[in-house]
Amino acid sequence: MSETVQIIIEGKEYEFPVVEGSEQEKAIDISKLRAQTGYITLDYGFKNTGSTKSAITYLDGENGILRYRGYSIEELAEKASFLEVAFLLIYGELPNKKQLDYFQESITQHTLVHENMKRFFEAFPQGAHPMGMLSSMISSLSTFYPESQNPNRSVVDIEKTIHRLIAKLPTLASQAYKHNMGHPTVYPSNDLSYCGNFLKMMFSLPTEPYEVDSVVERALNKLLILHADHEQNCSTSTVRVVGSSQANLYSSVSAGIAALWGPLHGGANQAVIEMLESIREDGGDLQKWIDKAKDKNDSFRLMGFGHRVYKNFDPRARIIKKAADEVLEQLGVDDPVLDIAKQLEQVALNDSYFVERGLYPNVDFYSGIIYRALNIPTDMFTVMFALGRLPGWIAQWKEMVENREPIGRPRQVFTGSKERSFVVLADRD
Ligand code: CMC
Repeated sequence: MSETVQIIIEGKEYEFPVVEGSEQEKAIDISKLRAQTGYITLDYGFKNTGSTKSAITYLDGENGILRYRGYSIEELAEKASFLEVAFLLIYGELPNKKQLDYFQESITQHTLVHENMKRFFEAFPQGAHPMGMLSSMISSLSTFYPESQNPNRSVVDIEKTIHRLIAKLPTLASQAYKHNMGHPTVYPSNDLSYCGNFLKMMFSLPTEPYEVDSVVERALNKLLILHADHEQNCSTSTVRVVGSSQANLYSSVSAGIAALWGPLHGGANQAVIEMLESIREDGGDLQKWIDKAKDKNDSFRLMGFGHRVYKNFDPRARIIKKAADEVLEQLGVDDPVLDIAKQLEQVALNDSYFVERGLYPNVDFYSGIIYRALNIPTDMFTVMFALGRLPGWIAQWKEMVENREPIGRPRQVFTGSKERSFVVLADRD
């Protein structure tokens, strides 16, 4: 017999089914709660609420486990290419040679963006935040491909949209960077790898030849894999909720980019480097900053620390910390900010405030240090996160569509005024 739980409300007992995941994690299915009892649940920030059943990413926050479709993040980061991981997330299995060749070729065919989009970029002020530009550009892609707006679109149309998005995001991201630099746009090179092509579009100039550095290419590949999915996080939930209204995939991803931008989410990687720089400029008194983070009257938080789900360690942070050491050494970069980060980590990890609350370095704590070593400017860090997260957003959107999930529409507990009569302006105090 399947497991159930009993909930007693106003002395009356109700029974609700228990749902068990493949890793034995348990949930109470309360989808009939309101219909049966008149009650809803209240859960700010959805800290205890499962919004869906998903077969994409498994995350065990207590034990620091992260797996995409059953494969550990450690193995994927070490052995896979980003496009292999994208295929795995989106289609459920690692591609065989033929499937990977087809996937890569199809993506390569869609790397160009419509020339009219250049004019959108021209209208942005120089210095515009690239996340703002990227979100707008991805949304505007839907206007070039009106078939994507049909909620009953065919599998072929969906496939094309997915490949277009993966192909065009690096092109648009590099164009946002070139716009801010005042440099001419570099068109995609379809003979290069996904990461190699992006690096060339970012850093090559018409005045000199450009060769992709294999150390940089490998580091970028690893970082993108580490960011590729993270189950129902803020931006992914946003993509699923927007998509649940049958809005097209471009608009759903554009909303995901906007959600990612915030400093409590993907924007933390930019905020970490800004924080470390401030600590350095301020003389490097780490205890002062730790005390600020602990002070409840101060809104400052230690950026890159803490996670909603990981309470012991973030496995991605471990991989990135090791990679940061390796990449900086291989590139011969000596970044004083890396030392500050390591010292800050040590001070925080020995402080009872952080220990008691399970606050550890997250994926964003060291990623910015690698991006800096790759010459990526600080305001592009969150764009890099978006490049990595794109396959996850797509996979989650596709799963939501295939499962025919209902429109996302939470309820609320109303705390405003009860009904009252309208008072004409002349009679108001
Ligand atoms: N510095 C100082 N105190 C913190 C921090 C921090 N970075 N993070 C959490 N706390 C405290 C918080 O004040 C609270 O204390 P108390 O119980 O005394 O009120 C307690 O720890 C629990 O925090 P919370 O805000 O209730 O936890 P949450 O799960 O809602 O928030 C978080 C998770 C990631 C938003 C938060 O830890 C944070 O703001 N971290 C800094 C921003 C950051 O690095 N974000 C990147 C997250 S990882 C990349 C991604 O996937 O987006």
